[in-house]
Amino acid sequence: MIIGVPKEIKNNENRVGLTPAGVAELRKHGHTLLVQAGAGGGSGFDDADYEQAGAQLLPTIADVYGQADMIIKVKEPIAEEYPLIKENQLLFTYFHFASGEALTHAMIERKAICLAYETVELPNRALPLLIPMSEVAGRMAPQEGAKYLEKPLKGRGILLGGVPGVKPAHVLVLGAGIVGTQAAKVAAGLGAQVTIMDINLNRLRELDDFMPKNVVTQYSNEYNIREAIKTTDLVVGAVLIPGAKAPHLITRDMLKTMRPGTVLVDVAVDQGGCIETCRPTTHEDPTFIIDDVVHYCVANMPGAVPYTSTLALTNATLPYAVKLANLGWQAACRQDAALRLGLNVVHGEVVYKGVAEAWGLPLVDVAHVLEPVTA
Ligand SMILES: NC(=O)c1ccc[n+]([C@@H]2O[C@H](COP(=O)([O-])OP(=O)(O)OC[C@H]3O[C@@H](n4cnc5c(N)ncnc54)[C@H](O)[C@@H]3O)[C@@H](O)[C@H]2O)c1
Repeated sequence: MIIGVPKEIKNNENRVGLTPAGVAELRKHGHTLLVQAGAGGGSGFDDADYEQAGAQLLPTIADVYGQADMIIKVKEPIAEEYPLIKENQLLFTYFHFASGEALTHAMIERKAICLAYETVELPNRALPLLIPMSEVAGRMAPQEGAKYLEKPLKGRGILLGGVPGVKPAHVLVLGAGIVGTQAAKVAAGLGAQVTIMDINLNRLRELDDFMPKNVVTQYSNEYNIREAIKTTDLVVGAVLIPGAKAPHLITRDMLKTMRPGTVLVDVAVDQGGCIETCRPTTHEDPTFIIDDVVHYCVANMPGAVPYTSTLALTNATLPYAVKLANLGWQAACRQDAALRLGLNVVHGEVVYKGVAEAWGLPLVDVAHVLEPVTA
């Protein structure tokens, strides 16, 4: 198969869909790899690294789209890319169709095969191609929080780990899933006193077994959150109710009960945020202040660490990319139920329920588009 890796052109996106290691792996299986010159630059990979791994470099994005059977990238195509996409071309990337009406219509019109990272789903309901980005954002949250707790950045002026003779900071993590667990581990590693809350008692039991002694688990309810925030220095918002907006666990009135300079890092901002006063911010202007409380609500936190994020993402996507390339998308999706759930838009038909519902479009059964072609 001819596989194309374009350079991401979405504003401030420095990740790339395939590393030189991924190129080498796909070459081993006999595929042709076309990489746009400069595609890996933002993640620290030179053109020479790709060439050495066996890729051919192409000068423009149009060359890559024009020749490839499968495109592997990171972000959803943006308007400039729509006309480059060919009928029957397989696009393997994040799409987030439910928040992109124009994108959905464009992909229907292009009659491409859109396999979305975010809906590839394992039988235990885990989302293997979202987990790596949650891990990155979770580990970043205390790091960013620690920075904004510094006085010149309007924080309380407290060091997360304290020093001998001085108590450490208190960190409250709301949600004990992927983001919350990684956030608690890093905050604890920096020496903070961490409380992690969830409504899933079994999850709290698991954490209690392996977290260090400076992490305590507590059931999440309004009373416990109201009490905790009075003495918390850093809150990490990490709740998720799949398919729904995040619940507001910290409401506007609660800000007044916090100490000035408290920092809120609402990682759940991409689902509306679990802090009522949160609104999406960017890496250029990551914070704002309400009632003397610092809000950090960057919607694409992993974008700030493209080297780590690219490696984490491609570790997870590569086995699926190899399967798609070796078998073709039809056979690969017939064989692998997780991959099949990644199909969102195929040959102009919407085959994923959430996308059809989001934009009032007819839903076509995925089995229909997977039927073997008969002579
Ligand atoms: N901002 C970013 O750059 C970025 C990056 C990655 C992920 N995210 C987002 O972070 C959020 C968390 O992702 P995740 O992968 O950790 O999800 P997850 O499903 O692994 O964990 C969510 C946890 O929230 C818990 N929860 C639900 N309701 C709760 C409540 N009322 N109180 C306390 N806990 C509650 C669930 O029981 C679950 O354990 C998602 O919205 C995700 O999209 C954002």
